[in-house]
Formats: sequence, structure tokens, C-alpha cells
Amino acid sequence: MRLRIVDDYEALSALAAQLVADLVRVKPEATIVAPTGETPQGFYAALARLHSQGAFDASRLRVFQLDEYVGVAPNDPRSFSSWIQRTLLDPLGVDDTRAVRLRGDAADLVAACRDYDEALRAAGGNDIVVLGLGRDGHLGFNEPPADATAPTRVVQLSAETRATLARYWERQDTVPSQALTCGMTNILAARNKLLLVSGEHKREILRRVMTGPVTPETPGAYLRESAGVTVIADVAAWPWPHPPSVAETTIPPHWRA
Ligand code: PGA
Repeated sequence: MRLRIVDDYEALSALAAQLVADLVRVKPEATIVAPTGETPQGFYAALARLHSQGAFDASRLRVFQLDEYVGVAPNDPRSFSSWIQRTLLDPLGVDDTRAVRLRGDAADLVAACRDYDEALRAAGGNDIVVLGLGRDGHLGFNEPPADATAPTRVVQLSAETRATLARYWERQDTVPSQALTCGMTNILAARNKLLLVSGEHKREILRRVMTGPVTPETPGAYLRESAGVTVIADVAAWPWPHPPSVAETTIPPHWRA
């Protein structure tokens, strides 16, 4: 696991964008699994800036969404599908045919998950998954307990997760209770995993992810046993007084397409 501890959220976003842009330059047809949530918004903005400056060509990128609410159509502005459309696909000019949605509005959700996994396999696997970290340790919507073999599937959202999502809905009781998530298996099989962690409120869960037991109770901890992982955290989220790698500025050697 490679750690990059940076001063603040802006630096985190800029570094994440630089790493992804570097990867896409090396492999323009890269497959990226893209998250929503608050943490990656600065990363998307920085990536869009790099793209508008001509830093990389996004026309051959394949984009998979990481998760989605059950019962919410892709054109609903609260869906993660439309969120990714606004923050990633539109700014980078990625054609709709190169985006793979998790269809939370599908009549057959099991088939929707199967189609997603099949599309990921057909694309040659996942070059990079970008991840936020849930306060309960979830990756995507792999809510605890979820072990390293958890497949792409329908999940029940915990009360804690629904409470944190309430800000995107009118009221907490209107937050969907179920979601689809890219499974832990796919996440851990990605050639590169980029975990973004920002803010003091993530400090305790980051501590558990970095040093706690690797069990289904903390899905994020499985990253410690996985190859190709880069964690970018800002100092506010870093639970220890002396960041180990503040000065590290080189591209990680494993960061290869
Ligand atoms: P956040 O969500 O970026 O809004 O904190 C992270 C997550 O739940 O995965």
C-alpha cells in the first residue's frame, strides 16, 4: 500500500487527478470505476481542468459507476448515474456508449448486476477504481459485514449511511434503503485502487482501515492485503502525528496501466 499524506483537500484532489491523468495518458482506453460522494468532487473538478488544458485524451476511456440507489432512475438528478454524468462524463466529453451504469431501476436487479460484471469482464477488467471511505468502513456500498469475495449485488443501506446521505434528499426517510454496489471482488481485482480520505471526521475509520483487524466489519481494511493500492489522505484525516510520506512526490512504481 502506498501512502500519500498531503496538506489539505485541494492537494488531495490535485494529486488524485494527476495520478489518474497519468494513467490515462499511458493507457487511453483505460477502464475506470468512478465513485460519487463528497470526497471525489474536488478530484473530478481537478481532472476536468487537466483535461481542458489538453493533459490527456478521454475519448477512449471506459467509465463504470461504482454504486447506485435501488429504485432511482438514471435521469433522476439524485441518482449516482446523473451525478457521474455531470461531474465526470460531461466535463471529459466521454460518450454515453462508453459509460456502464448500474441500473438501480431495473426490474431484475440480479440481472443488472450480472450485466455490469459481464461488461467489466468484456472491457478487460478494471484499470483503476477511485474510492471514498464510508464512516463505517464501506467501499462503494459494500456495507459491513462484507468480505473480500462479496460480489456485485443488492445491499441494504445501514441507518448510519442513510443518515449521511440525507443531505442529498428532502428528508432522511426518503433516502432509498437499498442500493446496488460493485462488489468487493471487483474492487480488489482492479489493477490500481485509489482511496481518497479527507477531513477529521474520517480519522477514526482511517485508523481502523490502516491498523485494525482485516475483517468483514471493516471492508476498507481489505485494501491492506491487496496490490496496487494508493491511499491519499489529507493531514486532517491522518490519525497519526507524523505523516510518513509528506515529502513523497514521485509517481508510485506500481502505478502502471
Ligand atoms: P463521502 O462518502 O465522500 O461523501 O464522505 C464516502 C463514502 O461513503 O464512500
